[in-house]
Amino acid sequence: INLNPTIIVIFGGTGDLNLRKLAPALYNLYSDGYMPAKYAIIGTARKKLTDDDFRKTLMGGVNSFSRSGKVKEEKWSKFAENIHYSPVDVEAPETFGVLKTNIEKYQKEFGPDTQILYYLAVAPNLFPLIAKCLSEYNLAGEEDNCRIVIEKPFGRDLETARELNSILTSIFTEKQIYRIDHYLGKETVQNIMAFRFANSFLEPLWNRTYIDHVQISVTEQLGVGDRGGYYEGAGALRDMIQNHLLQLLCLIGMETPINFDADEIRNKKVDVLKAMRPFSPEDIRFSTVRGQYTKGWVEGKEVPGYRHENGVDPDSNTETFAAIKFFVDNWRWQGIPFYVRTGKRLFQTSSLITIQFKDVPHQVFPSGVTEHWQQNRLIISIQPEMSIRLQVQAKRPGLDMVLNPVDMVFDYKGTYTAQAPEAYETLLLDVMTGDQTQFMRADQVESAWELLMPIVNAWETKKSLSFPNYTADSWGPEDAEALIARDGFHWFTLPLNKD
Ligand code: BG6
Repeated sequence: INLNPTIIVIFGGTGDLNLRKLAPALYNLYSDGYMPAKYAIIGTARKKLTDDDFRKTLMGGVNSFSRSGKVKEEKWSKFAENIHYSPVDVEAPETFGVLKTNIEKYQKEFGPDTQILYYLAVAPNLFPLIAKCLSEYNLAGEEDNCRIVIEKPFGRDLETARELNSILTSIFTEKQIYRIDHYLGKETVQNIMAFRFANSFLEPLWNRTYIDHVQISVTEQLGVGDRGGYYEGAGALRDMIQNHLLQLLCLIGMETPINFDADEIRNKKVDVLKAMRPFSPEDIRFSTVRGQYTKGWVEGKEVPGYRHENGVDPDSNTETFAAIKFFVDNWRWQGIPFYVRTGKRLFQTSSLITIQFKDVPHQVFPSGVTEHWQQNRLIISIQPEMSIRLQVQAKRPGLDMVLNPVDMVFDYKGTYTAQAPEAYETLLLDVMTGDQTQFMRADQVESAWELLMPIVNAWETKKSLSFPNYTADSWGPEDAEALIARDGFHWFTLPLNKD
């Protein structure tokens, strides 16, 4: 792969995100031959470190968190020759002067085609400060050779998201801004578009005439762990639904794009968000459920309730579970519910999209034969199992005519031998090649907030009297079952082994 010389500056160089995700991703890209021939990775943070200290820190991260296991000594040394450290304190902007000198050194060495990427792996309140410093020190570059990458949360409501977008776009153009939603880099999520638009049999069925309802369920076994401080100000709605789950919904709901152009695809996705039915106070009462976990037992170990986690208010009103029924008011999806749920400390870690098709228009088989009847389902399992299943009725072998549902399965493990790349590998490579397809455009972020603001406001102003309302290791609050059962459905789960 032929990439221009690249300088990657990572703010928050010694932080968790770099150690767990970015450094392992860059090392794997290097090992697989996807790094540019000339590159420099410059880590920045407040600490004073030598290049060697920093390299050692990163190696620790890669050894612990890389999908490919511990580094190969020789490969690592070659890769690490291009890693450097430059202390930067955003509260002492003059430290940007030193960073600038370091950047310019590489620009000179690498030549006029050099591109520069700034990765802001820092707390979001620092985004505007860093962007302004980059601008003041003349580091913001040109549209073609300079990009900035930021991580969610993109604001904590519509107003702050707009503010952030306006600060960023006063310094960078939209083409330079890469807002990461790591779900979009997952192999199985990228495959949704391939599955929908590279096969001819699905599209004719992909509408309100044949589809009965859609479920998007992202459940996690883990609690908030040491992220209580952040999570307390966020909750499941901001942390997961505003971004990851609504993006999955867009991939299922979007119209067929004309081509694979980044803006064409993002236009089609934002159309879904714009078509989503706004929430009235009545809808919030009947179509949304929130929950908070209490203590319980997970695999033989007692785990604390949310209100007893570090950094959490003992009287917290923050939801650790949310379930919402959405509608997409357009020609394709009119009247078809999209049920979405996510939560922490649930029974299973699993991200699953289930598309349930309508029942046959007329039952041909007598009742004894159809005891195990199940409407057709398409199940896209994002993780931990990576598969697409089509549940169909089949005749059970035997002299009697008995039908039961069986799965036609495409599973990655059985089909491919290559290991799937991590989301961050895919997304970092996209940033280097300048492909914005899998990144959130400003209007996507703002439309998602616009849709959710009535719920955000209602949940913030009205304290939940029922919290905590689900036990760790359960499937969440009972009301979430009721939300979907009222319409005659139930949450679908795959019988996965817990691991
Ligand atoms: C992050 C959220 O964006 O996604 C976390 O902030 C959540 O709370 C995580 O645990 C889930 O990501 P994944 O890739 O583990 O499903």
